[in-house]
Amino acid sequence: MEDFDLVIRAGDVITASDRMTADIGIRQGRITALGERLGRGIREIDASGKLVLPGGVDSHCHIEQLSAFGIMTADDFYTGTMSAAYGGTTTVIPFAAQHRGQSLKTVVDDYRACAKKAVIDHAFHMIVSDPSPEVLDSELPALIQEGFSSIKLFMTYDNIRVSDEQMLDVLALARKEHAMVVVHAENHGMIHWLADKLLQKGYRSPKYHAVSHVRLAETEAVSRAIQMAEMLDQPLTIFHVSTEGSMKVIRAAQDRGQRIYGETCPQYLFLTAEDLDKPGVDGAMWCCSPPPRDQEDQTAIWRGLANGTFQVFSSDHAPYSFDEHGKLARSKDPSFREIANGLPGLELRMPLLFSEGVRRGRIDIHRFVELCCTNGARLYGLHPQKGTIAIGADADIAIWDPDMKVTLGHDSTHDATGYCPYAGMTLTGWPVTVLSRGEVIIDGGACHAKRGRGRLLLRPAGDAAKPLGKLPAELDPARNFGADVL
Ligand code: URP
Ligand code: ZN
Ligand code: ZN
Repeated sequence: MEDFDLVIRAGDVITASDRMTADIGIRQGRITALGERLGRGIREIDASGKLVLPGGVDSHCHIEQLSAFGIMTADDFYTGTMSAAYGGTTTVIPFAAQHRGQSLKTVVDDYRACAKKAVIDHAFHMIVSDPSPEVLDSELPALIQEGFSSIKLFMTYDNIRVSDEQMLDVLALARKEHAMVVVHAENHGMIHWLADKLLQKGYRSPKYHAVSHVRLAETEAVSRAIQMAEMLDQPLTIFHVSTEGSMKVIRAAQDRGQRIYGETCPQYLFLTAEDLDKPGVDGAMWCCSPPPRDQEDQTAIWRGLANGTFQVFSSDHAPYSFDEHGKLARSKDPSFREIANGLPGLELRMPLLFSEGVRRGRIDIHRFVELCCTNGARLYGLHPQKGTIAIGADADIAIWDPDMKVTLGHDSTHDATGYCPYAGMTLTGWPVTVLSRGEVIIDGGACHAKRGRGRLLLRPAGDAAKPLGKLPAELDPARNFGADVL
């Protein structure tokens, strides 16, 4: 009788900290042995000459979600998660997005139902746009306890942004109930004001989207969010950092010892504002928020990936088709303000960073694993079940051919967006075989995953979301004349 359901033989096994040539034994969907010359498996995969990495954890992606503008993403949970799997990602954390007036509990139930199509495992961040007394006092505590232990807040977008006071309410609640808070940090007023001025003067084409999202709007909001988190001693993740300025603000907070985490995305390494400067409305395909910046910012973001300022590299996959259902839903000839914001990225997130980061020597392979797999799991309470190769972890594994070359075209990926922002690039290194809980879901360029096989991951927040226990004087009853406000 065989010892394992599956053995992956003689691959170069790589984690955030270690590298070893080893066999991996898998039983009932979990890794049960790592070693040399393991016993036989019912199925065996020869991984010699290949890299064996943890499956990716993409902790920021919008799937089957209504945007702030009320536009539906091109991907549903089937196409989105299949596309992720093709790119070596085996866990996603999309959003259950509350629009104003909605019950958060109902929203979460609805998204859970939609996700029953998923082919890989998934958790949810809750987008809170309406922190009413009912949400704060009853729904959020119950949902956090149930295992939805992260909350996203928007500081911009008319329909979903929260005020500073609402943000403080949510930060205080997260501290009490133990949840991670993540934030889209851009100053709404600065962007809105500049967009008005641009439009009044007739500057309406997609490239002015990048102009209206002035860098300082990001720096200001990142800085404000960090101060609010510090005031309440609550850990915070800053999503999709695009500029050197906001990166420096994050680094300074980390240097002060604050639990502030930074995330960046492929669009800030591989695209610039020039990509939005296309004939007609074609530039809409590259409109996202924050927008791609310039080469100087790209260089800075690479530095932040290498030096540890950023903990997470996620896709911010927000796919909108280039037609009347997506980018052009509000008008055939939209002004930059009417274009749905977002780019696809679930499938190419890891191949892009592997090729241009690891293969070109900008980051090492362990940092790649940390950024793409392990840290996302750690920040959001999924580690060590997800994000690593270790005894007891789910057998979520991607086997990479480090030398395979792939030239990207508009139809190279398996999402439903219909275009690829990175078309024309040739990448080196590709995940050729992908396993989720021990099941081979991608192999030989085909997806073998059954629709709906993905599982919902309920998780308590991890250590990363724990307060430091250091309140500022005005919030600390020992130093504020005994006022117990939290
Ligand atoms: O442009 C983007 N990133 N769209 C998705 C929603 C968000 O801002 O995260
Ligand atoms: Zn965002
Ligand atoms: Zn996003």
